[in-house]
Amino acid sequence: MENFTAFNPTTLHFGKGVLNQLGITISKYGKKVLLVYGKSSVKTNGLYEVIKQQLDSVGAEVIEYSGIQSNPVVQDVDLAAALGRKNEVDVILAVGGGSVIDSAKIISIAIPVDAPAWGFFERRLMPRSATPLIAVLTLAATGTEMNQFAVLSNHEAENKAGYGNPLLYPKHSFLDPQLTTTVPANYTAYGIADLVAHCLEAYFGKGEEATLSDRFVFSMISEAMEYGPELMKDLTNYKLRAKIMYAATMALNGMTMYGRTSGEWGVHSIGHVLSLLYGVPHGASLTIVYPAWLRLQKEHLGNRIKFLGKNLFDTEDIGQTTDRLEGFFRELGCPVRLSEVVTKKVDADEIFRVMVHNRAATYVHKLTQEDYRRIIDLMV
Ligand code: NZQ
Ligand code: ZN
Repeated sequence: MENFTAFNPTTLHFGKGVLNQLGITISKYGKKVLLVYGKSSVKTNGLYEVIKQQLDSVGAEVIEYSGIQSNPVVQDVDLAAALGRKNEVDVILAVGGGSVIDSAKIISIAIPVDAPAWGFFERRLMPRSATPLIAVLTLAATGTEMNQFAVLSNHEAENKAGYGNPLLYPKHSFLDPQLTTTVPANYTAYGIADLVAHCLEAYFGKGEEATLSDRFVFSMISEAMEYGPELMKDLTNYKLRAKIMYAATMALNGMTMYGRTSGEWGVHSIGHVLSLLYGVPHGASLTIVYPAWLRLQKEHLGNRIKFLGKNLFDTEDIGQTTDRLEGFFRELGCPVRLSEVVTKKVDADEIFRVMVHNRAATYVHKLTQEDYRRIIDLMV
């Protein structure tokens, strides 16, 4: 097992009614609040009123930035950071899914530096401090509520990239599974797939002797495989929403990584290219790339895939393991080929070019340019 450091400073408030404590928690960080949210869901499902009541109850002064889009862009972060800086906010409250919380994380480190936020992603800029961030999660998927990562797109730079820094952990995250009952079927399924993909990125990373972390991976994927399809048939079921929300948080909060030196993240980096080029939702990009990646890696990672199959599907057959995983994604209603989600003509050369530009899958199990061509054929 590899050496490791365990560190996670986020206080997680989980369960029915936890938002009752939101106002009082925010008030510990100050009076001026930058409230960040997405396009429309918080208004249509009534959450906005609940949040406003909490903020009013502690006399908070609220400055709002709304309209964060799915697959969020750095331009919104720069605009919101400028607003927060001008108003000298004490604390940021992010209400939404991964896109809103990720944006708020970068806003929190951009406010103190007064420079374009993409500089962090290009490693030209180092964060010095962060405006405290409190998150209310409304969609179970990314794990951002309890980790130090954020992912943004910059279409001018043709890049969708992740950034990690310990300053990005939210101070508090509020997770009431009731808030996720309005998530539509497609994003519910993408969220379940995303949590499974996070487990797999850890499992295929560096440090194969981390047997306990492997067992965490199998448990979390088993939880998703058992309760995910049930949830898809009963989207307002609190108990099932709670199981998936808890699993999604654990899948990317460090727990599956102890005893490893890094995750693999190749599938995510290829998925980001599909999101960048075709606007594919994050979870859907992963259900397209994962089966293709496993087929591409069947020799190189044969033993690891066999061990996965043995533990999840009671088979040591590599092909069957990939087919079963793909079948699970299909059962959820997720796409497994790019042609299922993209209506315009898919341009393999364009995907190849942007994969090269983004240096996709060159972290642990490095893909060559020849591999790029093969995986594109397997995905389209
Ligand atoms: O904008 P609104 O109107 O709020 O609608 C959103 C959005 O259209 C909607 N939604 C959210 N909560 C809802 C709801 N609709 C009804 N009821 C609710 N309670 O759902 C849509 C998708 O939201 P989004 O935040 O984009 O989804 P998700 O949570 O999957 O986040 C995806 C982003 O997170 C990044 C992805 O790359 C992508 O950009 N990731 C972040 C990670 C991290 N920080 O650790 C890791 C992940 O691997 C991932 O890369
Ligand atoms: Zn993901």
